[in-house]
Amino acid sequence: MCGIVGFTGRQQAAPILLDGLEKLEYRGYDSAGIAVAQSGVAVHGGVEGAGLTKAYSAQSGSRQTVGAARPDAQEDWQEGTGAASARSVQDGSRMTGAGSAEPSIEIVKAKGRLKVLREMTDDGRSVPGTCGIGHTRWATHGEPSVVNSHPHYAKNKRVAVVHNGIIENYQEIRDRLTKEGFSFISATDTETVAHLLDKYYAGNPIEAISRVMFRVRGSYALGILFADRPGEIYAVRKDSPLIVGRSDQGNFIASDVPAILRYTRDVCFIPNLEIVKLTDREIHFYNVDQEEVEETFSQVNWDTEAAEKGGFAHFMLKEIYEQPKAVRDTVSPRISEGHVNLEELGMSQEDLAKVSRIQMVACGSAYHVCMTAKYMVEQTARVPVDVDLASEFRYRNPVMEKDTLVIVVSQSGETADSLAALREAKKLGYRVLGIVNVVGSSIAREADSVFYTWAGPEISVATTKAYSTQLAAVYLLAIGLGRARGVIDETAEQEMTRELLRLPEKIERILEEKERIQWFANKFSHSKDIFFIGRGLDYASSLEGSLKLKEISYIHSEAYAAGELKHGTISLIEDGILVVGVATQKSLFEKLISNMVEVKSRGAYVLGVTSYGNYSMEDVANYTIYVPKTMECFAASLTVVPLQLLAYYVALGKGLDVDKPRNLAKSVTVE
Ligand code: AGP
Repeated sequence: MCGIVGFTGRQQAAPILLDGLEKLEYRGYDSAGIAVAQSGVAVHGGVEGAGLTKAYSAQSGSRQTVGAARPDAQEDWQEGTGAASARSVQDGSRMTGAGSAEPSIEIVKAKGRLKVLREMTDDGRSVPGTCGIGHTRWATHGEPSVVNSHPHYAKNKRVAVVHNGIIENYQEIRDRLTKEGFSFISATDTETVAHLLDKYYAGNPIEAISRVMFRVRGSYALGILFADRPGEIYAVRKDSPLIVGRSDQGNFIASDVPAILRYTRDVCFIPNLEIVKLTDREIHFYNVDQEEVEETFSQVNWDTEAAEKGGFAHFMLKEIYEQPKAVRDTVSPRISEGHVNLEELGMSQEDLAKVSRIQMVACGSAYHVCMTAKYMVEQTARVPVDVDLASEFRYRNPVMEKDTLVIVVSQSGETADSLAALREAKKLGYRVLGIVNVVGSSIAREADSVFYTWAGPEISVATTKAYSTQLAAVYLLAIGLGRARGVIDETAEQEMTRELLRLPEKIERILEEKERIQWFANKFSHSKDIFFIGRGLDYASSLEGSLKLKEISYIHSEAYAAGELKHGTISLIEDGILVVGVATQKSLFEKLISNMVEVKSRGAYVLGVTSYGNYSMEDVANYTIYVPKTMECFAASLTVVPLQLLAYYVALGKGLDVDKPRNLAKSVTVE
């Protein structure tokens, strides 16, 4: 997800901002920018400009001084053309304009790695000022580009803002502001916040921010500069992390501890829905009613590496814990008043109703999402779903019905086999929908429609939060298809969307039980073979549980459709072998229990994973892990969590490098 850094103090801000953003690179990003308050005449070399410089940007970078803007000045961050007159650096060019006598804000933005920004600003030295904010962007709304990168700003009231999170109702706000005469230059949700602040700011920053908080829905951590208040940084958060740090050199805001650990360990994790005002010597906290409140600071004793993982031992565990937020961020913006909104697919209700068959294609864990989708979509929307490994689909010269919708699922959006399968389907004339986590990735760009999962960047090779958001995307699609086909009515849709919105808290409840799972995992860290069995969509979950275990613990594992065991594999069951039985589907529960009896009678040690209430599982299983009840069609989102934790703790028990397992890459961009 995005990274935010801010500093106001008695040193030049830009170098500190760049250093802090570098410490947040692990969060993944595709562009970056800084904004530095200029408290008076800020004269830079370079092409003359009357206050606001025309924004020239080369391939990757642009620089602009806003704040002394003539209201009619039309600034834009043109991509791709650069002003030859300015000194150009390797990956970008920089334009500076003559400063103005009034306080202003200098903004420098660049697509790509931070080094572009460093080169454009001579490592920050050429952007003077002791108060600024910086941002690394992980694209959610709007392609990775200079114009979409942060900081965003509103030209009239001279406000600059950086944002981490998702403004769910940004489109309605944007439409309203456009009608009021505001003009937008980016495709981001964040720019709406800049214009709202501009609209509400009449000299009192706390009041303006408070009013914005009442208007926007979603998650946000904001760093804000008001040009007429040089030296002051404002910040506010709701659901996205943001901290404040203080030191004798000045005060900081940051998305995460690593960004400021070099300067201070004296931090305060800003409470939700609180506003913060920082000057170089003071920090004040306010609630949403603009009343000042006291907050306490604490000493962070993490080392830098631990800090990058937010205090977690591995990115995988951190990402397992990010699943509630990732699912919430993916689901909430697509549900309004109980209805699923699939407009972003660019498919009308008629288009959706016309879909006669679905062909799903993916690799690895994404393929297991497709397997789950087969059961879930067929149950919910009564559309036949075929599932294929991308590496098979691309070579089998598939025969598909005319109105087949091909869905390619991919976290990275760059998996070679999945991309090739997409191209094969398009070559055959089929419509392709991509379910993708990386904005602007190849699969996202080449699909006819894209449904983005908003899991944020996933660092660990073993996917967890992206997997969970892909499941959520499938559920939304199934409900949308079911409604368009008249298979589910309004009442059913309301019931399903209500339950979908409850999944994050149910995942949180499972995570609270991690010690039980860790204790169990430690008993089996030295297994030679571990089997997973399930029926229906529990079989798909078993496939994912088995892959998770294999890829990070290197223990041989197989997942089987439980009814299939007796056709051969049961011969492998010996004394003490762990068999994990996943059972959440009522109609198949007793059958799965029988299969667990079969393997137990042959010496297996049986772990049951089931929903609360199915206590008869304990009559058979040696150990049982319960997950909260949910609609059966959503059960995979809950059972996968203990299976992820089981794999994680087994691998940990073996002392393996959980985040970087041998022989594997995060994105398999070759055949
Ligand atoms: C999952 O834990 C694995 N890392 C791997 O199977 C992965 O799911 C597969 O390579 C597909 O990647 P994609 O989702 O980026 O296309």
